[in-house]
Amino acid sequence: MHVAVVGTGYVGLVSGTCFSEFGHHVTCVDKDAKKIAGLNRGEMPIYEPGLQRLVESNAEAGRLGFSTDLGAAVKDADAVFIAVGTPSRRGDGHADLSYVYAAAEEIAKAIDGYTVVVTKSTVPVGTGAEVERIIRATRPDADFDVVSNPEFLREGAAIEDFMRPDRVVIGTESERAREVMRELYRPLYLIETPIVFTRRQTSELIKYAANTFLATKITFINEMADLCEVLDADVQDVARGIGLDGRIGRKFLHAGPGYGGSCFPKDTLALVRTAQDAGSPLRIVETVVEINAKRKQSMAQRVIDACGGGVAGKTIAVLGLTFKPNTDDMRDSPSLDIVPALVAAGARVRVFDPKGMDEARHLLDGIEWCKGAYDTMADADALTIVTEWNEFRALDLDRVKELMKTPVMIDLRNIYNPNDMAEAGFDYTCIGRAKVSARA
Ligand code: UGA
Repeated sequence: MHVAVVGTGYVGLVSGTCFSEFGHHVTCVDKDAKKIAGLNRGEMPIYEPGLQRLVESNAEAGRLGFSTDLGAAVKDADAVFIAVGTPSRRGDGHADLSYVYAAAEEIAKAIDGYTVVVTKSTVPVGTGAEVERIIRATRPDADFDVVSNPEFLREGAAIEDFMRPDRVVIGTESERAREVMRELYRPLYLIETPIVFTRRQTSELIKYAANTFLATKITFINEMADLCEVLDADVQDVARGIGLDGRIGRKFLHAGPGYGGSCFPKDTLALVRTAQDAGSPLRIVETVVEINAKRKQSMAQRVIDACGGGVAGKTIAVLGLTFKPNTDDMRDSPSLDIVPALVAAGARVRVFDPKGMDEARHLLDGIEWCKGAYDTMADADALTIVTEWNEFRALDLDRVKELMKTPVMIDLRNIYNPNDMAEAGFDYTCIGRAKVSARA
């Protein structure tokens, strides 16, 4: 099949590349000529494990191309995916759909023969209907259907999530469109991926419901972690103890500094607004949004407490800036609350992130950018782990201790074992588990 993908952000680029890996002919379109030129030279605009290799091999095989010419790509396509951004609108938290609607109008002008227009961007319920109205108004003669097909890709694991998804959700009432979508996802039938066919507005809601549920699960375990700290219980064991119940499940029960990223914060807020406007408020999700924002703001205080109540004039090493590992994405990362709060409290902050430094430089000021994990620790009064990159999981603790002025670690991702840390001579603060003092 011939596929056009409009928008070469993270979702569009990964989806387009993976469809070409399935054997379809894909053109990824973007208005940003510099980005397209870069992609044509094999330069990735984002860091996503495995993406570069897949782009190169499919481009070489002639199945994947990048272009600024939306008209040409749409004209030849059986299916056109809208994968443009839907940022939170300033002020009210609603998703900003102006890019989606602008894409719909441009697509309409170029439609040639029966075309399935698919919304891949995360869009509020009713957006598919509006996209259909726009295309119909722009091109009354066009033969098309508008389908919702939300993505469930995690950054850092997006290729695997696309190639081996838990499910595919397709929202349309048109049998003709269903046939095209079945054909597009045919390779997944071989691995027996469940495909949920439903109505368009239900499909749109499934995406928000999935993300808000996961955000709620994380927030639940984060509050449970606070309670564990007061009751001297261990949140990791609580997570395991409840997670082994198949009805609950073990995933997304890692307590931490609060969820971030380009999806959970934006989607929880957008669904809260949609529900309020519909007169059917989601009180649980409203609370989740509020608790998570406060949690991220409160994390710096943990560092300050671990430093004896003040960080003025102290040196704090920070490992990890991105909202999670294996990405260079800084959007709504807890580090954006933690680092400025430490700077404001008078600390000298030295940071390192394996992939996020370039992006972080635009967002954080007044800190020292270091070359590697150990480099951050020189003369540090405390070390804080904000993101659980693999390379931070097995630090040489003797070396860390030698480099630091005082062996104080605040592990906001629970990647170390409290007993081991005490044995290694550290004062160790973590999340939802008792603090320990150096034994050595
Ligand atoms: C999320 C969803 O997991 C994807 O299914 C979805 O497609 C995507 O949003 C989207 O809507 O595009 P992503 O934002 O890449 O994916 O990252 P997650 O792995 O879900 O992590 C989100 C945040 O939750 C991170 O800050 C992470 O550190 C935090 N988290 C996650 C926890 O604090 N604890 C956990 O147990 C899991």
